[in-house]
Amino acid sequence: MKLFEPIRIGHIEVKNRVAFAPTHMGQGTARGEVDDQVLCHYYARAKGGAGLIIVQAMGVTGQYAFTKGRGIVCMGELYRPGLRELAEVIHMAGSRAVVQLLLGQGAQALYRHSRRDLVAPSEIAVRVETENMPKALRKLGDISGDTARALTPDEIESLIQKYASAAGLVKEAGFDGVEIHGAHGYLIGEFVSPLFNQRQDEYGGSFEKRLTLPLRLIEAVREAGGPRFIVGYRLSGDEHVPGGLDLEGSIRVASRLVEAGLDYIHLSSGCYQAINWVFPDREGVMLPEARAFKAALDVPVICPNIHNPRTAEQALADDDADMISLSRALIADPEWPAKAAGGRAEEINRCVFCYNCVRGVIFDRVPVRCTRNPEVGWERFNPKYWPRPGSTKAD
Ligand SMILES: Cc1cc2nc3c(=O)[nH]c(=O)nc-3n(C[C@H](O)[C@H](O)[C@H](O)COP(=O)(O)O)c2cc1C
Repeated sequence: MKLFEPIRIGHIEVKNRVAFAPTHMGQGTARGEVDDQVLCHYYARAKGGAGLIIVQAMGVTGQYAFTKGRGIVCMGELYRPGLRELAEVIHMAGSRAVVQLLLGQGAQALYRHSRRDLVAPSEIAVRVETENMPKALRKLGDISGDTARALTPDEIESLIQKYASAAGLVKEAGFDGVEIHGAHGYLIGEFVSPLFNQRQDEYGGSFEKRLTLPLRLIEAVREAGGPRFIVGYRLSGDEHVPGGLDLEGSIRVASRLVEAGLDYIHLSSGCYQAINWVFPDREGVMLPEARAFKAALDVPVICPNIHNPRTAEQALADDDADMISLSRALIADPEWPAKAAGGRAEEINRCVFCYNCVRGVIFDRVPVRCTRNPEVGWERFNPKYWPRPGSTKAD
């Protein structure tokens, strides 16, 4: 299968074309450090055969509003030992390891009546309408956040410096790269979007100026990581909101960012106002967007929201993507890649789109649990998922 052929990303070879999509699990210590549960969770997914592990969105500062609840972060020296161990266990299982860095959630942190500082490029409020939610989440009703305030240029500069330090920490910890989280209408995505960014300074007012922030971040990560470090970027292929970036606009953004030195593009879709695109209730929804990106770009394009090995293989055969990424499919079954590679696809424990994971971590702010896989969140107690030092290393 083409799915299990190696692929080059930047200067690095990945053993197959299956990535673990960044998936915030609500695990880690109360301060956001990597703990044994996080290690076993990622080791399980790497050992299960995913060639590239993109570690979940890790915040680079606690200064502004972020999703409450546990999660791992990358905010300074305190986090170095845990990050080193995380890179090590993923490499031990033979996979490549990239960390997704989150500058902030912007207005989509959806805070209400909170004393925490809600910031965005411009004064905006986000409202998630029930009709735009996947069916299984509609009982939550409409959800709205307070109006965010616009960041000052000095604050933006300070955020860029924090992002650069976090990228340096990721590099020193031994990871193969960083994925810049520019998707889902979070802070970076809000700067790029004509809907969310109403600024008239160096960070807004024209297409080029809306790209000032991501271009500065790409430069900062490249400088921190050096030429052999993977620099990837995740963006929504279409924001699916009136006035937001459509497919053509997003391809234009990606083309400009690739010129600035990206090694891959990881697609997603939508933003919280169109949350049914971020977390679709069936597979393959983003394939048409991926196809258009792949035709326009000459770096590898990763397409998420695949659940069946056959769909994955077809996507590669049809040139819709160079690689696929799995989120909920790997929550439900960490051995999805090994089973698909071994001709045992019928043994895969499949996600049933119940949305317990999304609801838990995004809305209820509790650690992810999975209806189909009761081991999720408890991997540390199963010796099968204990890292084995001395096993294969990626290089
Ligand atoms: C519980 C959960 C947490 C997620 N956390 C992140 C994240 O940290 N960063 C990100 O870019 N996407 C995140 N996503 C989105 C996934 O990466 C993926 O794009 C989406 O779930 C659709 O793919 P799927 O059908 O394979 O789940 C998350 C998804 C889920 C289900």
